[in-house]
Amino acid sequence: MRIRYFGHSAFLVEVGGKKILFDPFLSGNPQSPVKPDEVEADAILLTHGHADHFGDTIEIAQRTGAMVVANHEIATYCQSRGVANAHGMNHGGGYKFDFGYVKMTPAWHTSSIETPDGMLYGGHPGGFILRADGVTLYNAGDTGLFRDMELIGEQHPIDVALLPIGDNYTMGPVDAAYAVKLLKPRFVIPMHYNTFPVIQQDPEVFARLAAKEGASCKVLAPGEEWTLETA
Ligand code: NI
Ligand code: MN
Repeated sequence: MRIRYFGHSAFLVEVGGKKILFDPFLSGNPQSPVKPDEVEADAILLTHGHADHFGDTIEIAQRTGAMVVANHEIATYCQSRGVANAHGMNHGGGYKFDFGYVKMTPAWHTSSIETPDGMLYGGHPGGFILRADGVTLYNAGDTGLFRDMELIGEQHPIDVALLPIGDNYTMGPVDAAYAVKLLKPRFVIPMHYNTFPVIQQDPEVFARLAAKEGASCKVLAPGEEWTLETA
């Protein structure tokens, strides 16, 4: 599994010959090294509707034909915006796609879709378990700390967890390290920090806290990629 970071919460995961894009906030993302027309995707997985996650989903899905996987409300909204292939899910539900198994997990956050006509209801925010090619990835989405993360890790032994550390809108470094303790991933990659002044964090501080909880932290600079060898 190859994981490329575009800054904020945007990642491109390549596994089993498929490209899976998480939360493609690219054109408005000061950290992104790529433009929306420079990425390819077979699937786009959206954790929630906020603009710093929904990002360039419509444009990328229309150009590439990627399937959008999101909660029911956001999947339906994408269809209304001309996305041909949208798959709605909800918390606790799993589905076997051609690119891997996906389960939608809860997240403590909010979700709305910002449009020129105002805010639309965006369903509940979530995270994802993605299992493909013998590797399990957990993307927590935007969330505060919650103890049921322990259950997620118990049910799906996690190879790599993507956790927000920016604080203010999500967990900060201390709570994210506690999440590591509950989830027990082998590796952890921090996200959702340093994009805006209000979420400035030193990822190395988090890396040290995560190491104390037994996970190896991979801090990726925007544009950087890391490969997790298949077991
Ligand atoms: Ni959000
Ligand atoms: Mn966010």
